[in-house]
Amino acid sequence: MKRLLIAGVALATGLAATAGAIADPVDDTLEIDGTPIVTRTAAPEGHPFDEVLSGWLFREAETRDVSRDSFENPGMIAVEDGETLWNTVMGSEGKSCATCHDDAAVSMKGVGASFPKWDADSQKPINVELQINKCLTEQMGAEAIGFNKKGQRELTAYIKHQSLGMPVKLDLSEGEMQSWWDKGKDVYYARTGQLNLACASCHEVAMGKMIRADHLSQGQVNGFPTYRLKSGLTSLHQRFRGCIRDTRAEQPKAFSDDLMALETYVTWRGTGLSVETPAVRQ
Ligand code: HEC
Ligand code: HEC
Repeated sequence: MKRLLIAGVALATGLAATAGAIADPVDDTLEIDGTPIVTRTAAPEGHPFDEVLSGWLFREAETRDVSRDSFENPGMIAVEDGETLWNTVMGSEGKSCATCHDDAAVSMKGVGASFPKWDADSQKPINVELQINKCLTEQMGAEAIGFNKKGQRELTAYIKHQSLGMPVKLDLSEGEMQSWWDKGKDVYYARTGQLNLACASCHEVAMGKMIRADHLSQGQVNGFPTYRLKSGLTSLHQRFRGCIRDTRAEQPKAFSDDLMALETYVTWRGTGLSVETPAVRQ
């Protein structure tokens, strides 16, 4: 069945997948600047896998090595740009992020590991990007940043990087997080597009296999925004949209209900993995 699916994906996309080739996740451990990173851990109750695996384990040795050292990681430039923005006055109130939140190394430690969270004001889950916009508009008299515009990825990377090494953990008991989780699960397993593929077709059924020149991981989100060697700093909803485009389906908008639900569910699927932001990927 698995082999059939991979052959199907290869045929349908007309791309040279190495049908059925197995390339298991490597047996290797990650420390970033001396901080131990959990790249494999026991899955939470109700998870389809026994073990949750970081995408790092599916990358080539060279890519894995670049992740180990902040000086080598090209994504760290974005983190530094995020730090500059953090300290920059924006909006009519004459405030910077630091005016209220002071030193991000203290105030934002652990924050990135627990998003998306329930936002009582909007009665929806909120992610780091939308929380930044909330502070910009409600606290600073500034404009919201459009998807992937003006430092959004950089500020998000900076905030998440403050949780480097900390385990991803969502609070699903808040508000209606559980029903968004349910909705996200539906999206994850729904087959869409001309290729009739679900997220699960690639990241669950075909996990560990090769597709094109790429090694299929569990599609975890613990390293976002990630630095992709072929295309630079990549936000999570950009990645979601890219994967959906590959099934030749219509792409939901960034921050739409579908993608917020998906972010909630897929983040849960990585419970216990360390935050790796900015992770280096292919
Ligand atoms: C005038 C004070 C103020 C400023 C300036 C401000 N914030 Fe906030 N921020 C808050 C308050 C109050 C909260 C908690 C309530 C909420 O969610 O709005 C918060 C919450 C947050 C959180 C979530 C923290 C958590 O524990 O969940 C993040 C992330 C954040 N802000 C980022 C930023 C960023 C990035 C900027 C600059 C673009 C910024 N804030 C500017 C007041 C501020
Ligand atoms: C046709 C196969 C395919 C489908 C369907 C697909 N993806 Fe992917 N996805 C990939 C490939 C290939 C990669 C890059 C290699 C890897 O990490 O698996 C990737 C990477 C990712 C990553 C980045 C992982 C990391 O460690 O940085 C995430 C997150 C992701 N996918 C989520 C999804 C979600 C959510 C869906 C459903 C909306 C989906 N994908 C559907 C093929 C697919």
